[in-house]
Formats: sequence, structure tokens, C-alpha cells
Amino acid sequence: MAEPIRVLVTGAAGQIAYSLLYSIAKGDVFGKDQPIILVLLDITPMLPVLDGVVMELQDCALPLLRDVIPTDKVEVGFKDLDAAILVGSMPRKEGMERKDLLKANVAIFKTQGEALEKYAQKTVKVLVVGNPANTNCLIASKSAPSIPKENFSCLTRLDHNRARSQVAMRVGVSSDNVKNVIIWGNHSSTQYPDVHHAIVNHHGKELAAFDAVNDESWLKGDFISTVQQRGAAVIKARKLSSAMSAAKAICDHMRDIWFGTPDGEWVSMGVYSSGNSYGVPDDLMYSFPVKIKNKTWKVVDGLSINDFSRAKMDATSAELVEERDTAVTFLGA
Ligand SMILES: NC(=O)c1ccc[n+]([C@@H]2O[C@H](COP(=O)([O-])OP(=O)(O)OC[C@H]3O[C@@H](n4cnc5c(N)ncnc54)[C@H](O)[C@@H]3O)[C@@H](O)[C@H]2O)c1
Repeated sequence: MAEPIRVLVTGAAGQIAYSLLYSIAKGDVFGKDQPIILVLLDITPMLPVLDGVVMELQDCALPLLRDVIPTDKVEVGFKDLDAAILVGSMPRKEGMERKDLLKANVAIFKTQGEALEKYAQKTVKVLVVGNPANTNCLIASKSAPSIPKENFSCLTRLDHNRARSQVAMRVGVSSDNVKNVIIWGNHSSTQYPDVHHAIVNHHGKELAAFDAVNDESWLKGDFISTVQQRGAAVIKARKLSSAMSAAKAICDHMRDIWFGTPDGEWVSMGVYSSGNSYGVPDDLMYSFPVKIKNKTWKVVDGLSINDFSRAKMDATSAELVEERDTAVTFLGA
């Protein structure tokens, strides 16, 4: 058996973590023969809740789970990490301005980036989930200059899965028959879910998504807004934000980093934009189509972009530029 790897989940007393930890601990993400030490970080008032989560993980009697370490201290939480899944962040409270929310999160992700720099392995793979995920991820990465920027990514896989599933339901096939959807940009309502290059396997025949769906106005209208607004729709219905589907997407994302993407398929993730071939401004964490091999992602180049897509890709990058520029002013504070 391999040596155990050390995996951190922050926000570990929260609702996404409650769905996520079991899947990680039973081998769904890092493999069925990879022992794991789970490190659970949350803020001090949540430590009693974390104790309950630890008890439940112990009670699952999972053979791969070698140790569970609950903590409220970054020097314990970030020590020697192989993987870090940063879920915890400051939620928007009533009456809170966007700018104040950003400021609070910059403080959290600066501290956690500095802790990665100081305590984690330099090979650590960092996935940021806590919102605003793209900008939080950028701040964490800027605060950990000795860890390669390529080791950081943020979650847009939930949006990707939503897009895949919407197309599959519309065509009447299972979601595994839809591949190569793309989420461009920010994990926010400006994101651009794009199916111009997606393929649907319809009863054994591979069709372009536009042909399989055969309803251009839906694909350019309600489809896009449904995916963009899905998080808000779940909150409205459940009175809580997406957790089960977010946890599933986190597992998909991290498993693909660890084991690679299947041949001929790409996935969407927020990655460092510098040097991209799509005219997206440098120095953002922007969601692109990526293929992954040997734990290294590469943006899929050469996809044709029409005027409709261009405008939407530019709108979401403009939002990210503004978010970054505001966030960076808080970095020195
Ligand atoms: N990127 C995505 O696709 C996506 C999808 C769903 C949710 N989210 C985001 O994920 C985050 C978590 O969602 P949730 O439903 O689990 O929220 P939650 O409120 O149930 O849990 C968040 C936990 O984070 C903890 N926390 C806050 N500050 C922390 C810090 N500095 N260090 C460690 N822990 C800290 C809180 O105490 C809480 O236990 C939110 O920001 C949410 O918006 C992102």
C-alpha cells in the first residue's frame, strides 16, 4: 500500500464538507488504494461541530482513512499537504456590500495562501471553492509565490456538470452521452456556458450539440440563463446553497487532476490565464476548457470562437478584472 497523502478541507464543519468528506475518505477522489490523512480546518467557534464530524468519519470505519485531524490553526491545517480543498469562506450577510465581502475574503485567502507557502509541500494541488472562488484562488496563489501558479485552480465543474445535464435532459440521453461543454470565465452569473464544441452521443451517433438539441434559441437563451442562475434557483428552493452537487463536482475536479481527463474529453476549471490563446486578459483565474495529464492541466487551444461567444467571454473577463483590481487593493491592507 502507498504512503498516506495529507488532504486538507477547509470549512469542514459546513454543509458542502458534510457531503464531501465521506467521498474523499472512501477513495472516490484519490483512488481506492490510496490511504488518506484528512485535515479538517474551520474557525474556532465551529470546533465542537468538527468534533461531531470527526466522530462520524470514525464511525464510517473506512479502511483508507488513517487519521482525521480537526483544527482551527493554519500551522496545523496546512502542514505537509498533498492536496488542499479550500471550501470555507466568508458568506454574504444581510446588508453587506460586495466590496466588504471581497475584503473579508481577501483577508482569509491571503492568510491561507501564506500558510500554503510556509507549511505545505511545493507540489500541493489547491482547489478553491469558497466564493468568489476565482478571485479567492488568485489571491491565495499570489500569497504563495513559491508554489507554481499551475497548482491552483477554482471550481467551475459544478457549472460544467449543470450544463452537461441540461443538454442531456433536453435531448433525452444520460449525461455521460454529452461531452465537451465549456464554462468560460467567472463562477458567477456572468459565466458563459458554451456548447458550440459539445458532442452528444444520440443512440450511438455522435452529433454536434446544436444539431442534437435542434433548438438554437433555447441554446442561446434559456439554457445559458438556467445554468448561470442555477445556484440562485437551488437557494430559493432549498433555502440553502448547493451542497450535494457542489461536493460531487469537487470530487470530479480533484479526481481529474489526480488521474487525468479521459481521451478526447475536456473539463472546465478556473486556471491562471496568463499566456492563454483566447485573448483573455492575463493574471486572472478564468475558467477554460482543459485537458489534464500527469497532474498538469493544459488549456485546449484552437477552438473557434464566434461573435456571440466572444461578447460573452469578454463580459465575464471584465467582471473578473474588476474583482481582481479591487481585491488587490486590499492585499496590502
Ligand atoms: N465554486 C462553486 O461552484 C461553489 C458551489 C457551491 C458553494 N460554493 C461556496 O462554497 C462555500 C461554502 O459553502 P457551504 O454551503 O459549505 O457553506 P457553510 O456556511 O455551510 O460552510 C462554510 C464553513 O466555512 C467555515 N469558515 C468560514 N471562514 C473560515 C476560515 N477562515 N477558515 C476555515 N473555515 C472557515 C464556516 O465556519 C463554515 O463552517 C461558500 O462560499 C459557497 O458560496 C461554491
